[in-house]
Amino acid sequence: MVNTLIIVGGQWGDEGKGKIVDYLTEKADLIVRYAGGNNAGHTVVVGDQTYKFHLIPSGIIHKDKLNIIGNGTVIDPDVLVKEIEDLEKMGYNIDDTKLMLSSSAHTILQKHKDEDNPETNANSKKIGTTGRGIGPCYKDKIVRTGLRIGEYTHSGTRAAKKLNPLVRDTYIIINDALKKQKKVLFEGAQATLLDIDHGTYPFVTSSNPTAGGALTGSGVGPTNIDSVIGIFKAYITRVGGGPFATELGTEQETKNEESILDLKKELSEEAMSRLKRKNIKRANEGNEYSQGRLLRIQGYEYGTTTGRPRRTGWFDVVAARYAVAINGLSSMVMTKLDVLQNLKEINVCVAYEIDGKKVVNFPLDIKKLAKARPIYETLPGWDEAISKVKSFNDLPKNARRYVERLEELCESPISIVSVGPKRSQTMVLDNSTLF
Ligand code: IMP
Repeated sequence: MVNTLIIVGGQWGDEGKGKIVDYLTEKADLIVRYAGGNNAGHTVVVGDQTYKFHLIPSGIIHKDKLNIIGNGTVIDPDVLVKEIEDLEKMGYNIDDTKLMLSSSAHTILQKHKDEDNPETNANSKKIGTTGRGIGPCYKDKIVRTGLRIGEYTHSGTRAAKKLNPLVRDTYIIINDALKKQKKVLFEGAQATLLDIDHGTYPFVTSSNPTAGGALTGSGVGPTNIDSVIGIFKAYITRVGGGPFATELGTEQETKNEESILDLKKELSEEAMSRLKRKNIKRANEGNEYSQGRLLRIQGYEYGTTTGRPRRTGWFDVVAARYAVAINGLSSMVMTKLDVLQNLKEINVCVAYEIDGKKVVNFPLDIKKLAKARPIYETLPGWDEAISKVKSFNDLPKNARRYVERLEELCESPISIVSVGPKRSQTMVLDNSTLF
C-alpha cells in the first residue's frame, strides 16, 4: 500500500504536475511542497474554475487538507500574502489548519530580486531565469547569510504579521503524520533536468527538484517513501536557455514568436484556426519549425509565470531514462497526449549522436550535450481528437502504441495517461504505485 508519494517533474518543467498533484491530492491528508519558490507556476482546472499558483501547493483548493511549504523552499512574502488573499477573496479561509510554512524556509528579499533581473544581470539573462530572486536567495542560504522565514515573520511588516501564525517547525507535523500512517504527498516544482546537481548545469534552477530534494526539503528519511512518480509530457518543452537535443525549430525562432496573449488580442478565433491548419500542413510536410509551433499552439505552451513561448521538441528517451534512474521512479505519468493530434508521424529520440558516436546514456558534460544530435524512431500518429476518451482501450490504436512503446523504451511502467487539463481527462492504467 502506498502512503507516501513523491511527485517530480521528469523533464524541464511544465509537465502538468499541478493537475496530477491535484488529482492525487483527493486521497492525500498532507501535501508538502519541498523545493523552489515562485519561479514555479501551476495551473489547475476544477470544473469551470482555473486556479494559478506559484507557491501554495495546489492541494489548497481541497478544503480539508493540510498544505506545507517545506524548509527546502524559498518564499517571497509579498507573493505568498497575495496568493493567500486571492484565495480568501474566492471564499477560502486560509489558517494553520490549511497551510503551514516551515520556519527554516528562506526568505526572498528585494535585494535578491534586484540581483536576479535579467535586464541588468548578464548571467540571469544567459540562463533565462524567471527573475524572481530564486538563485540569489539560495546563494545567501548556502553562504549562511540568508534570512529564514521563522526569523523574518518577527520583523513586524504587514506581510510578516500575516504569515506569522502559519509558521511551524514543520518536520514535526510531517513525521507525526507518517507515524499515524496518514497519506503524505510530496509535491515537486521545476523538474529533473533543472536540478542544480543533476540538471543541465548551468542552465538549471538553484534547488533540488529531484526525489532526493523531497527528503532534505521537508525533513523526512528515505525509508519513509513508498513511491516516486515522474511526470512527463508526451513531447518535451523547455523555457530559458540551454541545450535541447530534440528541439524543433531554433531557440531564436521561438523567442521571435509573439506570446499567445498578443496573438489572441490580434487574431480572431478563425484566424487562429487558420494558423493552426497552416502549421498542421507544414508540419506534415516535414517542416520542423511548424512541428514545434503546432505543439506550442495545440499544447498552449506559453509560460504560466512569464508568458514566454516555450521551446518544444520530440520526446527524449535518453533524458527520460536518466530521470527514471536518478529519481528511482516507481512509474511515469504521461500528460498532454492529446496535443500530438494531427501529426502523421511522431518522432521519439532513442539515442544521441555525439562526435559521430552513438550515445545512449544522458551525458553530464554540457559541451557534449550541446553537440548531441537526436537519433529518432518514427511512430505513426493519429488524427482523432482524444481529449474525451475515458479508457486506454478506447484510444486510437496508434496512440496506444505510442504509450506502450515509450514504456518499453524508458523501461518504466506508465501509471497514468492524461488527455486534457480537467480531472475527468485522466486515465489510470495501473494504480499499484499510486495512492
Ligand atoms: P530560476 O529558477 O528563476 O533561477 O530560473 C532558472 C531556470 O529554470 C530558467 O531556465 C527557468 O526558465 C527555469 N525554470 C524555473 N522554474 C521553472 C518552472 O516552473 N518551469 C519551467 N522552467 C522553470
